[in-house]
Amino acid sequence: MALQVAGGAGCCGCLPLLGQRRTAAFRPPRAVASEGAAVEDGSKVMLGGSGVAVTKLGIGAWSWGDTTYWNDFEWDDRKLKDAKGAFDASVDSGITFFDTAEVYGAGVSGAINSESLLGRFIKERKEKEGVEVAIATKFAALPWRFGKGSVISALKGSLSRLGVSSVESYQLHWPGIWGNEGYLDGLADAYEQGLVKSVGVSNYSEKRLRDAHERLKKRGVPLASNQVNYSLIYRNPEENGVKAACDELGITLIAYSPIAQGALTGKYTPANPPTGPRGRIYTSDFLSKLQPLINKIREIGGSYDKTPTQVVLNWLICQGNVIPIPGAKNAEQAWEFAGALGWLLTEQEVEELRSMAREVKPVMGFPVEKL
Ligand SMILES: NC(=O)c1ccc[n+]([C@@H]2O[C@H](COP(=O)([O-])OP(=O)(O)OC[C@H]3O[C@@H](n4cnc5c(N)ncnc54)[C@H](OP(=O)(O)O)[C@@H]3O)[C@@H](O)[C@H]2O)c1
Repeated sequence: MALQVAGGAGCCGCLPLLGQRRTAAFRPPRAVASEGAAVEDGSKVMLGGSGVAVTKLGIGAWSWGDTTYWNDFEWDDRKLKDAKGAFDASVDSGITFFDTAEVYGAGVSGAINSESLLGRFIKERKEKEGVEVAIATKFAALPWRFGKGSVISALKGSLSRLGVSSVESYQLHWPGIWGNEGYLDGLADAYEQGLVKSVGVSNYSEKRLRDAHERLKKRGVPLASNQVNYSLIYRNPEENGVKAACDELGITLIAYSPIAQGALTGKYTPANPPTGPRGRIYTSDFLSKLQPLINKIREIGGSYDKTPTQVVLNWLICQGNVIPIPGAKNAEQAWEFAGALGWLLTEQEVEELRSMAREVKPVMGFPVEKL
């Protein structure tokens, strides 16, 4: 559940394409063979060692139906139409990997569950055109949920809301406060029962990640991914060993809040900070300090005919073994994400941006990461 806000990896995947310039803003992605195990057409990568292929960028569906953090605490038909537009534009642009969770949009008055919406959008496109998508959803490790049985029963609820018989990825949304062994066994059971094609974790520290990898390995189940907060201005995974451990163990790092909840798009300024809960994080003062970095992002983007949003998503892709999952609220945002694919920043640009980003004091991350 996302309380968040907003490596030494270098730019291994960039080398073949150093200095390449392309224009693709607001167009479907053009694939390049870069990091990870590319599948046949080069537009997809494997989720860790699972054999599940997904697009190199996914779409986050947290805001769909949500009235706790997004959407000014209201959900209406216009927002529903926009969310459907985001889904359709993603599929039309070639992005078919969607991230949701049982807790997104759940349980609060006025909210519509994100899984139910995603399921409905998928069904409509499937019926019309037979479109295939990859779904990642998440188990909420709530304190009153114990043991492996709770994972299977929560998963069955998710499958029913999504209207599918299995999902491509099932992730533990955050570590359990009483331990994770039972939850990990539940993931392995789900995998063996064919209810999930791959399993992952989220907000896991390096130690938890290694423990989870080891426990699942004993059951012959590959740990495919760790979903963590990672963006140009929130580089904790580079500093806390998570990115390096993912690379070492062959686990894909799925980057959430990759555009710092809109702060890195350049649309919010000191005079125009975001409203709602984000306004308490990305304050005018913070956005003032961010401006030199935004100016540099814009300058670099200009030479590629790319927007700041596309540059910062590309920066993440350049780290290798990273799939960003930006949240799209409407078709325009989804189309813009597609333009983050099919080209790469140079290694020098990647480092220049990292170095300037060090000057920006990071916002607070999801607290459990550090436990
Ligand atoms: N595992 C976890 O604990 C966890 C935590 C957080 C998120 N997530 C996942 O990660 C996904 C993405 O993270 P996030 O939603 O927190 O943050 P994000 O992707 O960094 O930011 C998304 C927000 O940025 C704004 N935006 C999107 N595209 C834009 C564009 N092209 N131009 C300008 N503004 C744009 C939109 O809000 P406005 O239009 O209102 O500005 C949008 O809701 C979530 O949907 C969820 O699936 C997981």
